Amino acid sequence: METSDVVLRFLESVGSRRESDFYLALFRAGEPERFAAISVDANVARYAAEAVTLDLRFLAALGLYPVVLLGLFESTEAMEQATRLGRRLDKAGVRALLLGSEEPDMTARAAEACRAQTIPIVVFPAAAQARFEALGTLVALLHTRKLIFLHRPGGLRHHGTLVPMVNLTSDYAALAQSKELSRKERILVEESRTLVERTPHRFAIAITSPLNLFRELFTIKGAGTLLRRGATIVRRRHGEIDRERLRALLTRSFGRPPVDDFFARDIAWGYVEEGYRGAALVTETALGAYLNKFAVDAEAQGEGIGRDLWQALAGDYARIFWRARPTNPIDAWYVKLCDGLMRFPEWHVYWRGLQPGDVAAAVQFALEQPVDLPLGS
Ligand SMILES: CC(C)(COP(=O)(O)OP(=O)(O)OC[C@H]1O[C@@H](n2cnc3c(N)ncnc32)[C@H](O)[C@@H]1OP(=O)(O)O)[C@@H](O)C(=O)NCCC(=O)NCCS
Repeated sequence: METSDVVLRFLESVGSRRESDFYLALFRAGEPERFAAISVDANVARYAAEAVTLDLRFLAALGLYPVVLLGLFESTEAMEQATRLGRRLDKAGVRALLLGSEEPDMTARAAEACRAQTIPIVVFPAAAQARFEALGTLVALLHTRKLIFLHRPGGLRHHGTLVPMVNLTSDYAALAQSKELSRKERILVEESRTLVERTPHRFAIAITSPLNLFRELFTIKGAGTLLRRGATIVRRRHGEIDRERLRALLTRSFGRPPVDDFFARDIAWGYVEEGYRGAALVTETALGAYLNKFAVDAEAQGEGIGRDLWQALAGDYARIFWRARPTNPIDAWYVKLCDGLMRFPEWHVYWRGLQPGDVAAAVQFALEQPVDLPLGS
């Protein structure tokens, strides 16, 4: 079996085939150097070098060449570790190119390497302040899609449990106070915040362990801690929503387009992410707000936009009800959000904050709504 077939099989074991195929196609479609920048922590390079080599080998077999970063937090052994990693990769048949972050044209050379199916390994200088500045320049110039910190604990913890997502805007102050963060983690969070604020394009930052890298990259749910800038949600009247952008969003989100007369529906308000990467559409009824559509662009699912939309909506409406197909994998999250639900063969209907006497009418209302995104269309 070819290595790439083995890796494809392996991908099936980390998550659903549909998700891994989606991300693989997404990563392969962009410029090679955009795929990812992976910072290997000194402890990971010291104690888990084999796992990192295997990760990089597998990625190369899939035609993906990340920019590897060494020495961001501790630069004493970075050069040695980079040389050792380069040697290991070479033995495994993967080309690597060592670069110093201060070399002239470093970013252009890193991009060229990725395009020539070579993994650039960038070593950061001894001066601490210069390191993250150099990283910022690299991420901005390469248009990096995802910055990943390989870290032995595999993510940040709060009360001993892993935190899957951190909103760098709203959660930062509490997190910065947390005694559970190590010195390194604190720097990581602070620098990540500066990076997402200063970098002109949107990109995701994740902390994960080398053993979970594939789950982080190829599943919606990810593995580890995702650090992100909170989404900006705007509330628009139905008539003020850009129809074409909404149609495109719904199509990409559900994987099929809405019916033609969808825009004639009785929708009062839309909560829309400023870049139309997500939307929640509301029909106002005497029973409460009926969440008519809830959608996040396939590319951005699992990054917390759904949560930001929900918060905006729940901040405005105390009474909300909605429905979803029984097969929709989002059911587990809806169960957490709702006060109650009823399951029917065609739909699950959920509600929150409703007067008990209104539940039956709300469920009936939800079941009677026309189908806007017919299955199989
Ligand atoms: C449903 C949807 C709007 C959620 O938005 P999102 O931005 O992906 O969600 P978030 O990243 O904010 O995550 C919110 C929660 O949903 C979970 N989640 C997101 N995508 C998931 C998936 N595909 N499978 C299982 N859980 C998922 C997250 O794990 C998180 O749960 P947690 O807080 O328990 O960890 C989005 O996945 C989507 O557009 N899906 C396709 C269209 C659709 O089915 N819409 C709903 C119709 S009722």
